[in-house]
Amino acid sequence: MIPLKNPEAIGRMREACAIAATVLARLKEQVRPGITTHDLDQIGRDLIASFGARSACHGYQLHSRRYPAYTCLSVNEEVVHGIGSLRRILRDGDIISLDVVVEYNGYIGDNAQTVPVGTIAPRTAELLKVTEEALALGIAQAVVGHRIGDISHAVQTFVESHGFGVVREMVGHGVGRAMHEEPQIPNFGRRNSGEKIKAGMTLAIEPMVNLGTHAVRTLSDGWTVVTSDGAPSAHFEHTVLTTDSGPEILTISRTS
Ligand code: MF3
Ligand code: CO
Repeated sequence: MIPLKNPEAIGRMREACAIAATVLARLKEQVRPGITTHDLDQIGRDLIASFGARSACHGYQLHSRRYPAYTCLSVNEEVVHGIGSLRRILRDGDIISLDVVVEYNGYIGDNAQTVPVGTIAPRTAELLKVTEEALALGIAQAVVGHRIGDISHAVQTFVESHGFGVVREMVGHGVGRAMHEEPQIPNFGRRNSGEKIKAGMTLAIEPMVNLGTHAVRTLSDGWTVVTSDGAPSAHFEHTVLTTDSGPEILTISRTS
């Protein structure tokens, strides 16, 4: 069963998501050549605390491991769940995916964006643009009466039409009191498949797109997912509320 949110839950989701979006917007402003991903993570930690919120990533448990950082910072061939490090210094031409998940007042907001560091290669710039556009197309399918597979199909066909690879191993998800609720939202799949979309669902839609092969592997730190071919990867994510008048993006910053 996919949980449907009542008006009170939706109000709290709005608040958590607005904080997640504002933290991401401010963190993005700090991205520049020379900064370490550890410094960015500390800035993210402080920003989250400044809103009285908590990082939903810090301490998140997966297979007996706890995620050690406050934000997920994934550089170049890192797809998701990169851990900030003092040794990872951003350089001109890099890309970095910033994934911010906060809990506020019992509810969770989840969003991510990939941004360039200085000047990036044209095909990498295209990767970012196509992934962001794929997210928009996926969100446009989050319509009452459609099915989850309509989101998946829209993302996959657009991404593959540009010659990029859609990651299979990680998927979007329902979000609410828990970071991961039903349903799973793959970025690949068939039209008119999966569960029916109803009003009051809060969905984290999050295409992860690779410049080369869609295949990925996990590094020995147990978290960092990288592309198998070492080519760059991009990730854009919003938390979306389904309503009778269409999808509403909740992870929109109110202040910046
Ligand atoms: N947005 C990511 C997700 O939905 C955040 C994961 S947090 C981590 O899975 F703790 F796993 F790093
Ligand atoms: Co997510």
